[in-house]
Amino acid sequence: MKGRPKLNAQSALLSIAGAVILLAGCGPSSEPNAAAAAKGRQHYLATCALCHGAAGEGKARLGKTLQDNSFVESLSDEELVEFLKEGRPAWDPSNERGIDMPPKGGDPTLTDDSLMEIVAYLRTL
Ligand code: HEC
Repeated sequence: MKGRPKLNAQSALLSIAGAVILLAGCGPSSEPNAAAAAKGRQHYLATCALCHGAAGEGKARLGKTLQDNSFVESLSDEELVEFLKEGRPAWDPSNERGIDMPPKGGDPTLTDDSLMEIVAYLRTL
């Protein structure tokens, strides 16, 4: 009985240490991004996968591969959102395939926040 309070204090300290470690693991940089990317993946599958493939692998005569894509890597998150809003029409000189990349992938209901989530997902490909 005598040792109990000491033990409790020790386990309380251990729990605090555990909580601190857990919180540190959920740092502001990693967790929200992972959550955003998970939401972005849902939007991506609904809107973009048809042309770019479920895993961004690209489709012949449709969307290009988005995996390790140098165009995607060259733009900031904000610039990518702007690109997605505009798309890349077939007549654009930078369009290689002669096929439209429709604005917002053809879904006008996608908000800036949703597009930012899609960008977070693209960063994981
Ligand atoms: C109707 C088919 C279609 C849909 C839907 C579509 N895309 Fe595209 N996308 C294209 C085509 C075609 C190109 C390539 C145009 C070209 O040849 O330059 C392209 C290009 C891109 C590029 C530029 C790649 C590069 O290397 O230049 C990105 C990024 C991209 N799409 C992302 C998306 C995202 C994200 C979505 C969903 C919001 C989406 N696309 C939906 C057809 C589509």
